[in-house]
Amino acid sequence: MPRPAGIYIDGTVGEGGHSRAILEASAPSGRIIGFDRDVEALAAAKEALQPFAERATLMHEHFREAAAVVRAMGLSGVDGILLDLGVSSRQLDSSARGFSFQAQGPLDMRMDFRESIRASDLVNRLPEPELARIIYEYGEERYSRRIARVVVRRRQSGPILTTQDLVDVIREAVPPSYLHGRLHYATRTFQALRIAVNHELDDLEPSLGMFADLLLRGGRLVVLSFHSLEDRIVKQTFRELGRGATGHFQVLTKRPLRPSPEECLSNPRARSAKLRVLARKEATA
Ligand SMILES: C[S@@+](CC[C@H](N)C(=O)[O-])C[C@H]1O[C@@H](n2cnc3c(N)ncnc32)[C@H](O)[C@@H]1O
Repeated sequence: MPRPAGIYIDGTVGEGGHSRAILEASAPSGRIIGFDRDVEALAAAKEALQPFAERATLMHEHFREAAAVVRAMGLSGVDGILLDLGVSSRQLDSSARGFSFQAQGPLDMRMDFRESIRASDLVNRLPEPELARIIYEYGEERYSRRIARVVVRRRQSGPILTTQDLVDVIREAVPPSYLHGRLHYATRTFQALRIAVNHELDDLEPSLGMFADLLLRGGRLVVLSFHSLEDRIVKQTFRELGRGATGHFQVLTKRPLRPSPEECLSNPRARSAKLRVLARKEATA
């Protein structure tokens, strides 16, 4: 629970919903340092957090910069850190961003416009085995090789530039029975490309170590993840930190916390969420 005068990091500030809740709970003097690498999200967060502007510092940065920012602010650490990983509803719903197979748009998927590689670059340039590997590893897509093969065949007659182009290719590549599964047939390929474009998994483990080091005594690192690949990294990294020789950290969630059925009904995107918490002990023996 945030405390008055506490200092908190929101590593994925998005539209500022969680930051707002932390600022309210830590009133009157709690502070937030918020990060988002999406400049559009940050603009929305700035507006949403306007009433708290004096207590909120918002940075257009990747969250891996948090330690440098905290140091530059002259702080020795923070009381709590929240990461709500993955893509936001706002990003998914914006057809211009290309994250969703349900909205016609350019095949972009960059969270950070300063990055130069878009999903269309991967799809149009990667060798077939590398594309298949990405779709398999980051999407856990069983038809990864078939999809990569049809992508490569299709791009010979012209680049694949839109979300719809890619959905059409996937539909052609997978067996008919897969078209009527519980999960949309393009879900896993889109997830894989998004993870690859944004280096989501490569950055996570070192960032979790960095965040743990930033915790003051009694501080907590709370991570919300939305797919099994992410959750596995969080689980393993927390376990190693909890077992660490320093004895500084403790994992507070033996099993991840899951949303209630009521919450899943009111917010279907929450259904795959898992929350894990690591604490820095008050004092070490
Ligand atoms: C699920 S949303 C967070 C929503 C937020 N909790 C709210 O209340 O609105 C994830 C956000 O994190 C951002 N993000 C993802 N990875 C990031 C990273 N490595 N560094 C900074 N921001 C990141 C995304 O751009 C997106 O806006």
